[in-house]
Amino acid sequence: MATQFNPNIIYADLPKVPSLAKAHGILMGIAFAVILPLGSLLVRVPNVKYGVWIHAGWQLVGWVFMIAGLVMGIRMGHILDRLHNNAHTILGTIVVVALLIQPFLGYIHHRRFMKTQRKGVWTRIHVYYGRVLLILGIINGGLGLKLASDSPAYSRAGGIAYSVVAGLAGLVLLLAMVLAFKQSGRSEKSERDTSTS
Ligand code: HEM
Ligand code: HEM
Repeated sequence: MATQFNPNIIYADLPKVPSLAKAHGILMGIAFAVILPLGSLLVRVPNVKYGVWIHAGWQLVGWVFMIAGLVMGIRMGHILDRLHNNAHTILGTIVVVALLIQPFLGYIHHRRFMKTQRKGVWTRIHVYYGRVLLILGIINGGLGLKLASDSPAYSRAGGIAYSVVAGLAGLVLLLAMVLAFKQSGRSEKSERDTSTS
């Protein structure tokens, strides 16, 4: 937190920051390091009845967590004068806003797949857009911890927990990408929607 007087900081609201930071960190951490990566893996489990809808519902829970986290992040950014003048809030806003359309991309892919029984451009957009944004979101959590490291709300234990879980989730997502690249060479046609919808 700033030590010199800054006319843009809302000093009267500073006592609200520790609980806002805790709630923001927990909501964003659970969304980006746990729910959204797990939901991305879930859709790859073969022969699950209604697998697509399980994926869609699961990801929507993470999406709601992310939006709640965004609202708190913006509130904190206003109070601390840290809104869009640092890497964390800029990259975070880009990632979250970009992910707002992700459920619609998923739904468009699904509708097209049901008609054609083939993956198409919408599949690739939903899958790669999603993977890249989730990895950027995970990295951004690390930037958030760095930003908060001089704040009284900062928890070292929380930071370590986030780094371990998020690092693992990022690694799994990267691994999934590499495996998918290898597999896409072998088969173009997906059986996913036919077996799960
Ligand atoms: C915020 C919401 C969502 C996020 C973040 C998300 C993210 C993702 C990601 C990252 C993948 C790729 C998984 C991998 O790494 O292999 C994926 C695949 C998929 N998603 Fe979503 N998704 C969301 C919502 C939806 C919705 C609403 C639907 C459909 C109604 C949907 C349908 C699918 C399908 C069918 C696949 C597999 C595509 C394929 O066969 O290659 N998703 N999603
Ligand atoms: C990918 C999305 C995001 C993730 C994963 C994320 C995660 C985090 C984490 C883990 C912290 C540390 C919390 C603590 O323990 O004190 C943090 C801090 C912070 N975040 Fe985010 N965040 C994201 C997006 C945003 C956005 C969009 C904003 C505002 C527009 C924002 C504003 C802040 C601020 C101002 C802090 C510093 C709080 C302080 O100094 O105490 N974040 N974020």
